[in-house]
Amino acid sequence: MRKVSLSIVVLTVLLSCNKTSEVNLIPKPVSFQQRNGSFTINGKTKIKIDSTDSSAFENAVHLVELFKSKGVSCTLETTINHDSPNNIIFTRTACPDSLGAEGYMIDVNPKAITIRANQSAGFFYAIQTLRQLMPADFEKNDFRAKSLTIPCVVIVDKPRFSWRGLNLDCCRHFMTKDFVKRYIDLLAYHKMNVLHWHLTEDQGWRIEIKKYPKLTEVGAWRTNADGTVYGGFYTQDDIREIVAYAAKRHVMVVPEIEMPGHSVAALAAYPQLSCTEKPLKVETNWGVFKDIYCAGNDSTFIFLQDVLSEIVDLFPSPYIHIGGDEAPRYRWDNCPKCRTRLRMEKLNSYEELQRYFISRIAKFLEGKGKTIIGWDEILEGGRPHNAMVQAWRGIDRATEALKANAPVIVSPTSHCYFDYPVEVTNLQKVYSFDPVPENTVSEKIDLVLGGECNMWTEYAPQETVDSKVFPRLLAISEVLWTYPNQREYPEFLKRVRYHYNRLDALGVNYGFEQSAVEFKSSIGDVKNSIVVELIKGQDNLQIRYITNGDEPTAKSTLYRKPIVLTANATIKAAAFNSGIRVGEVFERTFVVTKSLGKPIELSFKPSEKYMGGGLQALVDGRLGTPKYNDGIWQAVQGEDMTVTIDLGSEQQISSVTIGFLQNIPSWIFLPGSVDVFISVDSSTFKQIAQLDCPDSIKQQPMLIYRFNASAVKEIKGRYVRLVAHNHGPCPDWHPASGSPTWLFADEVVVE
Ligand code: ACM
Ligand code: ZN
Repeated sequence: MRKVSLSIVVLTVLLSCNKTSEVNLIPKPVSFQQRNGSFTINGKTKIKIDSTDSSAFENAVHLVELFKSKGVSCTLETTINHDSPNNIIFTRTACPDSLGAEGYMIDVNPKAITIRANQSAGFFYAIQTLRQLMPADFEKNDFRAKSLTIPCVVIVDKPRFSWRGLNLDCCRHFMTKDFVKRYIDLLAYHKMNVLHWHLTEDQGWRIEIKKYPKLTEVGAWRTNADGTVYGGFYTQDDIREIVAYAAKRHVMVVPEIEMPGHSVAALAAYPQLSCTEKPLKVETNWGVFKDIYCAGNDSTFIFLQDVLSEIVDLFPSPYIHIGGDEAPRYRWDNCPKCRTRLRMEKLNSYEELQRYFISRIAKFLEGKGKTIIGWDEILEGGRPHNAMVQAWRGIDRATEALKANAPVIVSPTSHCYFDYPVEVTNLQKVYSFDPVPENTVSEKIDLVLGGECNMWTEYAPQETVDSKVFPRLLAISEVLWTYPNQREYPEFLKRVRYHYNRLDALGVNYGFEQSAVEFKSSIGDVKNSIVVELIKGQDNLQIRYITNGDEPTAKSTLYRKPIVLTANATIKAAAFNSGIRVGEVFERTFVVTKSLGKPIELSFKPSEKYMGGGLQALVDGRLGTPKYNDGIWQAVQGEDMTVTIDLGSEQQISSVTIGFLQNIPSWIFLPGSVDVFISVDSSTFKQIAQLDCPDSIKQQPMLIYRFNASAVKEIKGRYVRLVAHNHGPCPDWHPASGSPTWLFADEVVVE
């Protein structure tokens, strides 16, 4: 349904555009000029290179093969004669050094195409640009032609960042060798150059290691609750094949071998490497688990060094990603061997023990000519030996890495997690990403190598990956390649809409640019009101909605203008196309209260990942949904939450409520208790309630609970203060026991 309507949009745009606007390159080049006329590639075309130039040669061969596969046979010649017509020339001559290894120039005129680059990657990216100068159908497998035409253009281009990656999690869901190769092709087509390959996890070990066969015999397979077995792994031959395939396309494959956490599958195969040495099963749940490699046991290091020795022989990349994220310290804290290690190495904390662990591995790998990369947690006990950092918990983690003089790859959850739904991270949000943190001093800018998008697959089997990665990959490819002064979202969006024809031809089953329906709300001008806008995800859709009723249908109210709410309401909305619903029903509840939009003071700094829309989130009138990343919940980890609201004048108060989310697998717990205070002058506060939740729900994995003080007698006051006490560390029975828990609050309601 969606595909049909999108093609109609694209066709209409195409018909209404003149010739010069038909070129729509993604990522956008540094400089681009279109001229009159075109160059025709046919059986008489000669592809020419300097005889001595091997990098031009390999790319010229690649182009000859590409055209041949489309039915056009060109000849390759190793002498350059600029006078003869109908040439495609690959040359290093007159290519400025400033274009670096990946930059290129293309000059297409009716007589010749001249491609200049300094190195093979530059020639390769010029070919990718040529592909985008062809009609979209060129990308179809069965496309055949007698000749091809390319519009006359002059292009000068080079990337802003050298690290332009995708992290593909093939552990939570396994992906076939062909699927991985297809992604390498799609990365290269969009001038991305790193496949960060997540190969080991709690839920599956996916790479053959000859010395430890149980890693794949046991660790590659998980048994679900219904008895079905899920899994798979890549043999070393598969790996070599994929790495070579990627190298030909200028994609570096960086393997990630997780340690010390996210290692349950390995420990299920070799339990003697864990602190308890007790048998474990390959995990079937998603989350963070307390069983990690024992840091006190030398066998752990012997094992990891053996594994990494095979890894370095398989992957020519100078970098090995060692994970390092989300490693609960609970087992180490309770392990005699780990405690002995702490003492013997004179370490002051388990953070320092993690640093010892990672540094030991980093030094080993340095001996093999490799540098490690680790997720930003590896900075916690001090930067391990020469480590590079991948910042994921927020852009401020990149700032921390820069402070430690660590080269950094920037991929914050806020912009780069493509497993997040488009309702949370839409195309525009991705496009607004800048890997360089604000206020980075000029001397440190070169330490920002670039960025990655992350495709975690807990909820994404292979067949759904396209719809999550695309079209967002177009945005990240441009963010990482194109300089900011060249980037403007509305203009990019136009190119994206053309590009859908190419994605169709490439067989990409792309998803939405944004949620089919988006809610945007603000405090109204009319006293105590909320203005709700419903934004449609595509121009060709209509939104229909219903207030305080059942599901919207094709007969429900058509949304035409913002809705003004002066009382509590639940709005359910859906997008329709020709009377047929497109996608799900979206639902939001708004509360219009005495505290709505009032000044609020927070005792805590909300998590950058979960701001809930800003510092006013707890009085914005929006109630949260069961999704912790819906953009409504405001969160803090390991701390209490104290909020003070100024109602503006002394008023009768009959009820005070604050809502919290519990999502125990994600370490989100209801507060232990909530204290409620009222004051008339903001200096003396009187406690009016101490609230708890029923015992029966305390271990319920997922729920929303509203702590309410309404039984209090009517009381007068101007300031309302709530103190929500953090639950404390994850309890013993929790997989991440000992780790700090989160508080997630949505709204304070004063009546
Ligand atoms: C991560 O998302 N745990 C790196
Ligand atoms: Zn231990």
